[in-house]
Amino acid sequence: MPMTRAQKYRLLRQAEAGELERLAERAADCAWRQTYHIQPHAGLLNDPNGFAYYNGQYHLFYQWFPLGTEHGMKYWYHVVSSDLARWTDAGIGLEPGGLYDSHGAYSGSAIEKDGRLYLMYTGNTRDADWVRRPYQCLAVMDEDGTIAKTELPVIADVPAGYTDHFRDPKVWREGDAYLCVIGAQRSDLTGAAVLYRSPDLLDWNFAGEIRTSLPNFGYMWECPDYFELDGTGVLLLCPQGVERDGERFRNIYPSGYLLGEPLNTADGTFRHGAFAELDRGFDFYAPQTTAGPDGQRLLVGWMGLPDLDYPTDGLGWAHCLTLPRELSLRGGRLIQRPAAGLRLLRGEERSFSAAWADGRRSFDRIEGRSYELQVRIAPAAQRPGSADGGAEDGESSANRSTDRELPGSGSGRFGVEFRTGVEERTILTYDAGSRTVTLDRSRSGVPLGIDYGTTRSCTLDAAGRQDVEFRLFVDTSSVEIFVNDGEEVFTARLFPDSASTGIAFFADGGGAAFEGSYWPYGEGAIPRGLPAGLAD
Ligand code: FRU
Repeated sequence: MPMTRAQKYRLLRQAEAGELERLAERAADCAWRQTYHIQPHAGLLNDPNGFAYYNGQYHLFYQWFPLGTEHGMKYWYHVVSSDLARWTDAGIGLEPGGLYDSHGAYSGSAIEKDGRLYLMYTGNTRDADWVRRPYQCLAVMDEDGTIAKTELPVIADVPAGYTDHFRDPKVWREGDAYLCVIGAQRSDLTGAAVLYRSPDLLDWNFAGEIRTSLPNFGYMWECPDYFELDGTGVLLLCPQGVERDGERFRNIYPSGYLLGEPLNTADGTFRHGAFAELDRGFDFYAPQTTAGPDGQRLLVGWMGLPDLDYPTDGLGWAHCLTLPRELSLRGGRLIQRPAAGLRLLRGEERSFSAAWADGRRSFDRIEGRSYELQVRIAPAAQRPGSADGGAEDGESSANRSTDRELPGSGSGRFGVEFRTGVEERTILTYDAGSRTVTLDRSRSGVPLGIDYGTTRSCTLDAAGRQDVEFRLFVDTSSVEIFVNDGEEVFTARLFPDSASTGIAFFADGGGAAFEGSYWPYGEGAIPRGLPAGLAD
């Protein structure tokens, strides 16, 4: 039963006695709870917010509606980590319900100033006729973690020429000034991003629109983000209302980037190349970046999409965040690698190495629900050295192959099936002839988002290698696949049976060598159980 408006716009303190605890208990019992991804104890999670390295730790907040799995009254929930792998609860970051955020503390970002962390966010309000009015608000976090909102919004109006879809401030510093980019909709109902400038984070002045060469690209741009990487300007945006174009823009809303000359913050000019999607999978939206302690650019996204139903909606909770990724540039594109700290989650390594043509193989003790799997697949004709499938030192003999001859031309389809069971399997295929990678979740378990198709594909960079390397992070109900050291990423929620734990490698129409490692992931990376006092 969908919630009524009154049920959705309730604060925690207006909940019935035991309501949050009941939802959290149902969520905890759910067989699809993740083991190392940030997820809500109860209710719905969406965008990552306020991502920052501050006072020796990573701080990350997320959009949270505690009392149901619909998009209702949004809080900021706060988690903390020192390594981007293991997170602890810091409780509620921002509670909505004030004059300027009466209907939600919507997305925003964080920046350090004078030893304190400033959180800038959109206060969402509605009047009696349900007309929306956004305010850009500020809150300040002390070293001890106490967060206090400023009394007044710092940007109270929407500039002329834009509608009330005006939200998601992302702040950065340029010399002595602060800049922020805000997602907007023009009065002609096209999407845009606008710039503001401030000397102190309190007093903001409208500095015009970011002038891109995409004047008519969707009806609203959500969650913009701007930063520079090695002198290249990078603008992230989530344009809503972009039409499907072959294999591009197949999700309900895309999320992508523009690379260009550094943004001219004086007049808003941004000269850039084509819009490229950040993720080639099914469930990825509203990413946010921050600079780490060594200046590295880190990104976290929401592993979900707005306006779609998910299989846990009736089970007390919905959605999780992606793993943190580290960004760099290579060959004119944005490269995304899993954050280095994630290695801390690895259990004992199990390696495998074998070569064969036309067939399917599994390896001893390489299966599970929660693991990291790395595999390099070298089609026979391109494989350097000999065609035998000899094992590396230190491998268990069960995972060695002694094939000597590999027929095949180096074309063919190769890949890995995972979360396999009697009927279920999720299939990742590399077509060596066309250099296409395809993720197929048509048999992954409980279906979702099928109106938008059950496969996602992309063609790899033609220049360079003929082999392929996949690094998969599988959790109870998701997968993130990093292809060729971050050239492409596929993210997907999967809802298989908990007995579907198999992993099999396949060669079809050719021969290839498969070589890789598997690491089971243990428990303990993310908090379990509702923290005391949350429902008070
Ligand atoms: C993106 C978004 C943002 C908004 C937030 C509300 O998913 O719609 O534009 O601030 O979610 O939860």
